[in-house]
Amino acid sequence: MARRPIVGGNWKCNPESMAKLDGLVENMNACDASKCDIYVCPSPLHVACVCSKVKAGINVCPQNCNFKGCGAYTGEVAVEQMKDLKIEWVLIGHSERREYFQESNDLLAEKMKLILDSGMKCVYAIGEKLPEREKGLESTMAVCIEQLEKVKGLLDPAKVVIAYEPVWAIGTGVTATAAQAQETHAEIRKWIAKNVSEECAAGIRIQYGGSANAKNAPELSACPDIDGFLVGGASLKPEFKDIVDAIS
Ligand code: G3H
Repeated sequence: MARRPIVGGNWKCNPESMAKLDGLVENMNACDASKCDIYVCPSPLHVACVCSKVKAGINVCPQNCNFKGCGAYTGEVAVEQMKDLKIEWVLIGHSERREYFQESNDLLAEKMKLILDSGMKCVYAIGEKLPEREKGLESTMAVCIEQLEKVKGLLDPAKVVIAYEPVWAIGTGVTATAAQAQETHAEIRKWIAKNVSEECAAGIRIQYGGSANAKNAPELSACPDIDGFLVGGASLKPEFKDIVDAIS
């Protein structure tokens, strides 16, 4: 089954000023969205402004949502508010949310259900830390499986994209080799085939994230089970366009 590639730029908690926001939006608007889906994850304060500035074909995808919707949830952002801005995608499960904000697999499953029930789509990030990778593929997969287990009933390829992001590769300049990334993506797909369905495994898109850049993107992108990228640092540079162009 042909899967349309998808590339996301996660600006995390950047930029520090509105003055710099326009430059980042320009980088996004320079991208050719004809051969892949593209999304951008601005920080919550910048989401509405970015929605008004990105060109058609660039999707705004907030970096998080709360688990209940509108109401007495101080400091949170609700899916209803996103829908009101015509936003279709939400990113959840990023390792920085898991690590610094103690987001558990149970909470993330609750968030994914809310997102999908509200008619939105979800990018769900998973990935192992360095000690697990150092123990090998089995231990790497044990983490990925634990992170997928609670959402397996929600994995609809039309509505969910998995972002495989080995935590040791995030922001470190150390990228998984194409062979390592391909092997893990293939294992994730195999697990989905066994635990969800063959159809789901064949159709669901799995992005790679972790120090993806213009140099390593062509080789990673050529791997059969890698369906695009979730880009952090390089999405803050004009280089993001080169990563999109590298999609094969
Ligand atoms: O969400 C993006 C990932 O955390 C990757 O970040 O490209 O800076 O390693 P990075």
